[in-house]
Amino acid sequence: MKPYSRILGTGSYLPARIVTNKDLEEIVDTTDEWIFERTGIRQRHMVAEGESCSDLAVAAAQAALAAAEVEPGEIDLIVLATTTPDQIFPSTACIIQPRLGIQGVPAFDVQAVCTGFVYALSIADKFVRTGSAKRALVIGADTMSRLLDWQDRSTCVLFADGAGAVVLGASEEPGIISTHISADGAYKDLLQVPKGVGGGQTDADPYLEMRGNEVFRMAVNTLGRIVDETLEANGLDKSAIDWLVPHQANIRIIQATARKLDLPMEQVVVTVGEHGNTSAASIPLALDTAIRDGRIKRGETLIMEAFGGGFTWGSALVRY
Ligand code: ACO
Repeated sequence: MKPYSRILGTGSYLPARIVTNKDLEEIVDTTDEWIFERTGIRQRHMVAEGESCSDLAVAAAQAALAAAEVEPGEIDLIVLATTTPDQIFPSTACIIQPRLGIQGVPAFDVQAVCTGFVYALSIADKFVRTGSAKRALVIGADTMSRLLDWQDRSTCVLFADGAGAVVLGASEEPGIISTHISADGAYKDLLQVPKGVGGGQTDADPYLEMRGNEVFRMAVNTLGRIVDETLEANGLDKSAIDWLVPHQANIRIIQATARKLDLPMEQVVVTVGEHGNTSAASIPLALDTAIRDGRIKRGETLIMEAFGGGFTWGSALVRY
């Protein structure tokens, strides 16, 4: 049995429709300058009517399979992170399984909001390490635009849609060196969609609510701490890190984590300007972007980190 998992290939997909900050000026009382200065976001992609989370996930997964040179029939696990499943059930992982031509293997969703991809990667890595899977498809896909209140300028300018995927394979060498995931549900009220299936009924208007300042402070403190803990757990110095691949919520949060790692911004993958906050999709989208444009190379060491509703948070130390 091979004791580690490693990334065999990555893929991503963004819906065609681009919404700029100028476009948002037509919808809410905001400006391009305010959004860019506070968040680093210039534009984001959003799904068209009739386009769903599973559509984005299928396209990203197909790109990852092609990059990994793995056939759908060789995949023996699908873990999909999303907050915006197509339906309450079945899981979006089950919905995409036949569309990818995969049969008879475990497929399930993970819900950890913006930390979802790190959770999914951590779970899939454990399946591969224990020999329960040899080739796993790990996807982060979200259509956050469907949860936005278009009258609330403090949230509708931040979130967006997309999907990213990786194919993990069993390996003699790491690969995924370590993953660290955590949660504290005591903070659930600071970032939530307080609707769902209650009393046997689904609620209307499931909109995202956020106390932005408090989330910002917690995110900066927690992310600074977890990058230290991740290095410490592996007996590594900051200088061992070639790339920070962070969750893309806000450029100021990303810069604070980079400072904590003494990393120049040239070694940080930043896609928030073009993608906005795509929740579970943001890390695999950033990873795929930097692999495809040649920045991240085989053998380099990356740290991924994320923070999101729950609160949830997590990190992964990876040799690509
Ligand atoms: N356009 C113009 N003005 C706005 C907008 C907008 N889109 N949104 C809010 N404002 C106003 C506010 O009403 C407020 O006005 P007031 O002073 O008259 O009351 C003013 O701007 C300042 O608002 P703040 O909330 O204090 O602005 P802040 O600098 O904190 O930035 C932001 C807000 C960008 C939301 C920030 O708090 C943030 O990024 N928080 C983290 C949230 C986040 O990223 N969440 C994602 C999930 S968790 C994660 O992924 C890390």
